[in-house]
Amino acid sequence: MDKLVIEGGKPLSGTIVIQGAKNAALPILAASLLADGTTTLDHVPDLLDIDVMLNILRELGCRAEHTGGTVVLDTETAHISHVPEALMRQMRSSIFLMGPLLARFGETQVYQPGGCAIGERKIDLHLEGLQALGAEIEELGNRIICRADKLRGADIHLSFPSVGATENIMMAAALAEGRTTISNAAREPEIQDLQGFLNAMGAKIMGAGTDTITIDGVQSLTPCRYKIIPDRIVAGTVMVAAAATRGQVTLQNTQPAHLSSLIHVLRRAGVQIVIDGDIIKVGCAARPRAVERIVTSPYPAFPTDLQSQVMVLLTLADGVSVLKETIFEGRLKHVDELSRMGADIRVDMNAAFIRGVPRLYGATVEATDLRAGAALVIAGLAAQGRTVVEQIHHIDRGYEKIETMLSRLGARISRYTPVPNN
Ligand code: EPZ
Repeated sequence: MDKLVIEGGKPLSGTIVIQGAKNAALPILAASLLADGTTTLDHVPDLLDIDVMLNILRELGCRAEHTGGTVVLDTETAHISHVPEALMRQMRSSIFLMGPLLARFGETQVYQPGGCAIGERKIDLHLEGLQALGAEIEELGNRIICRADKLRGADIHLSFPSVGATENIMMAAALAEGRTTISNAAREPEIQDLQGFLNAMGAKIMGAGTDTITIDGVQSLTPCRYKIIPDRIVAGTVMVAAAATRGQVTLQNTQPAHLSSLIHVLRRAGVQIVIDGDIIKVGCAARPRAVERIVTSPYPAFPTDLQSQVMVLLTLADGVSVLKETIFEGRLKHVDELSRMGADIRVDMNAAFIRGVPRLYGATVEATDLRAGAALVIAGLAAQGRTVVEQIHHIDRGYEKIETMLSRLGARISRYTPVPNN
C-alpha cells in the first residue's frame, strides 16, 4: 500500500488551482442516467471515488471516458438496473444511484452500503423518501429491492437534512408525476450544483440552497454539458495547511461564499484571509490563537468534512480550543494519531479539548478515513522531522494526487509505492 513521506517544518507558499468538487460530481454522474444520450461534464476530478462511480455506470451498460478533467458519458446503452454488491461496497455513496435507476427503469436492486470508519451511515431517510414517491421497497438481508410502476410527487419532510437523501429524492422526483416538496432539505452547495445540472437537462427544480426544495416532475430530460463547482473541502484543506505551516498561499478557482464558516474560524484564529473574486489568499506569520468553540453542523454551519483539518491548526494554537463533532459518531479517530505526534487533546464523548503545544513531531501514522488522512498530512507538513502517512488510499478517494498539489506549494512530500516481494 502506498505511503506519503513528509519532511515537515517548511511554510507552504505559491498558487494552486482547486479541483472540481467530488461531492458534486458523484450525484451528477448518477443523475446523468435520467436522460438518454451523451452528457459531458467538465472539471471532474481524477479520484478513486470517481473511478468507482464510472465503473458502476459501465457495469450498468453506459459508455464512459474520463480524460483531462472531462467525463463523456453515453447512457443510451444503459440496460441494467442492479448495482453489483462488490462495487457498492467500494463506495457507499453509490446509494444515490437508487433514485435515478428507479426513475429510469421502474425498479432497481442495490445493497446496504454499510458503515465506514466515520459512522454507521444509515440510509433510512433515502428509503422513506423514495417510498413517499410511491416506491415499494423490500429488504432481503443486505439486498434492497425497489419497484415503482409510476413515481408520484409527494410532500416529504426530512427529520435530518441529509445530503444524500435530499439528492436521491431530487433525482427520483425529477421524472415523477406532479409536484414534490422536500422540507428540512440539506442546503449544501453540492445540492445547488445538482439542481443546476438537472435544470440544464430540462428539470423544473427550485429552492436548492434553502431548506425547502420544490420539484415539478417532467416527462423526460435531455443530456447536456455542465461544469462542476470547485471543491470547497479541498480548498479548505489547503487553506488550513497554509495556516498550519505559517505560509502564504493563493487559491484560484474557489467559491469563497461556500467557505464562509471556515473563513470566520480562521480569522478568529488570527489567520489573514483576503478574498478577490474566485481567489482566496491565506497567510499566517505568527502562532495562531485558540478558537474557543467550534461545532460541526449542516451547511452553512461549520462542515464536518473540515473538522479534522482545523483540529491540526488548533493543536498548534496559543490556548485551549473546543471542537464538537455532531454529524458523524466516529469522526474523531485522528485524535490518537495526532497525540502520537505530540498534540495535547482530550476527548469527552463527541467533543475534543485541544491545548496548543509549541510544535508537533514527525511520526509514522495511519489514515483511517479520507479527511482524517488529509489532517495527518497537514500535521506532517507542520511537524518537526519526518512523518510517514500509511493507508493513503483513503486520501486518494478525495484529493487529486495530493503530493503533487502540495509539492507545487513547496512541500517536501513524496509518495512511496512499496515493490511487491514476489
Ligand atoms: C455527504 O455524505 C458527503 N458525501 C460527506 O462527505 C459529508 O460528510 C456529509 O454529506 C455531510 O455533509 C458525499 O456527498 C458523497 P448525510 P452523506 O446523509 O450524504 C445520518 C467526504 O469526506 N443519516 O448528510 O452520507 C448519517 O448517519 C464525505 O467527502 C441518517 O441517519 O451525509 C450521518 O450521521 C464524508 N439517515 C448524518 O445523517 C439517512 O438516511 C449525515 O449524513 C442518511 C443520513
